[in-house]
Amino acid sequence: MFKYILSALIIVAIALAWIQSDSQASATVDPTAVKLPKMTPALNMGKTTYDAFCAVCHGKNTAGTDKGPTFLDRVYHPGHHGDVAFYVAPIKGAKAHHWKFGDMLPVEGVTDAHLKKIVPYIRAVQKANGLF
Ligand code: HEC
Repeated sequence: MFKYILSALIIVAIALAWIQSDSQASATVDPTAVKLPKMTPALNMGKTTYDAFCAVCHGKNTAGTDKGPTFLDRVYHPGHHGDVAFYVAPIKGAKAHHWKFGDMLPVEGVTDAHLKKIVPYIRAVQKANGLF
């Protein structure tokens, strides 16, 4: 009996390890492989603002880093994380729930006016890479 419980536990542990490694593997993408949208003056402003406030964790071209996830993962599809999440998380922070980076703290100095430039840029990059 004990043997069976032990093997069941080992199988569960292996499955969990596999799931974890899978979610970490998709937390970043190669920034040089990210397609940029056709840039407009508004999107350029969005990119500069994104680079100043978000890129340190979410990476160049939203590709992710070891401090935060890429926005090109399907969990950031607009149907799953709507624009509201993108306006709220930088101001209020977000509890870690998808990845193992830890909580996202409120981003110092960022305002709604910045986010009005940043969010359309992130969506345009997602769209250029076929996320929606
Ligand atoms: C200091 C690092 C850091 C910075 C800077 C940062 N983020 Fe995050 N962000 C994170 C981490 C880590 C997560 C993942 C939390 C999780 O496990 O779900 C995250 C998650 C998010 C989410 C998902 C929130 C949710 O409800 O699940 C959004 C949206 C987001 N970030 C937007 C931004 C934007 C926009 C900026 C720039 C204004 C920014 N972040 C700057 C670390 C950061």
